[in-house]
Amino acid sequence: MEYQFEKINDILLDWFELNARILPWRSNPIPYYVWVSEIMLQQTRVEAVKGYFERFIKEIPTIKALAECEDEKLLKLWEGLGYYNRVKNMKQAACQVMEQYQGELPKEYEKLLSLKGIGSYTAGAIASIAYGKRVPAVDGNVLRVLSRLSGSYEDIAKASVKKNMEGILRKTMPYDKPGDFNQALMELGAMICIPNGAPLCDQCPLSHLCVAYKKELTKELPVKASKKQRKIEEKTVLLLEYDGKYAICKRKEKGLLNGLWEFPNIEGKKSVLKIEDYIKKQGYKYEIVVPLKEAKHIFTHKEWHMLGYYVKLKQMVEQQEYIFASKEDLQSQYSIPTAFKAYKSVILEEENGV
Ligand code: ADE
Repeated sequence: MEYQFEKINDILLDWFELNARILPWRSNPIPYYVWVSEIMLQQTRVEAVKGYFERFIKEIPTIKALAECEDEKLLKLWEGLGYYNRVKNMKQAACQVMEQYQGELPKEYEKLLSLKGIGSYTAGAIASIAYGKRVPAVDGNVLRVLSRLSGSYEDIAKASVKKNMEGILRKTMPYDKPGDFNQALMELGAMICIPNGAPLCDQCPLSHLCVAYKKELTKELPVKASKKQRKIEEKTVLLLEYDGKYAICKRKEKGLLNGLWEFPNIEGKKSVLKIEDYIKKQGYKYEIVVPLKEAKHIFTHKEWHMLGYYVKLKQMVEQQEYIFASKEDLQSQYSIPTAFKAYKSVILEEENGV
């Protein structure tokens, strides 16, 4: 690629100085805070992360505390953020850091990369932002900015394209304030050079250097191969209530949302009659079965299309699989993934219930 990336360095640093958002992890960028924030930010927007970050740091203030934290508590703190493997990996990495590095995140990019859940982007972000190392941190935002800037038609979904871009930045990024430079690129991608063909070029400090802007290619770039179609799974979710408590069960230890809690559910969208049958077969007697509205949840590779029923039980039967939890317990103790939010909201009488 012939584009002279050095040209953007000073302009970006000046722009960042004036335009950086004030964020909780920026005011005190110690390595642990940078790590936690970057992991949270990987799949979640800054605005949504702020509250989670502050609560997480308050409850788990150090790497040692993270290594020692109960899984159930960790998952509860992560409830609603999704991609729960991120926090499970962080705990494993925290144990590695306790064993190998006396509780302090290493400064070297390669050592950071060896920790569970830390890839090239996160290693680069921690090394540059927390330790001032001159290494790139290339995420989707940065790839978008650099593709438009250089007018590149290469597919940013390819690992080779990201690797190539990291190689270029290693040569061209500034020696001064590499952490700010990386964050400036991310910030520009998040605030100005936004996706889906609608960047705010009139506010961009780099528009005069941008090939896509000059050639009116911002709608076309970046090129990103579309992902496979998501698989659709239909489900029927049951809110089984007895005496103000609701049945929940634990998901399998493997696969999607592993180890989290859920409301009992069965494959397919079932009729009232089928549900009544199902409940009787489990040995329960019920007072009423009330259909709830449909709900949808989109994961990376699949979609759940759900139907729900509220079932008031007449009597309790010993059942290994379920535990019955009060509203308070559902709020404060058990981590129930956002996929079930529409039904959980019915119980908690929240607005977005069905
Ligand atoms: N997105 C992910 N990490 C970020 C950071 N440090 N600053 C701005 N946006 C980000």
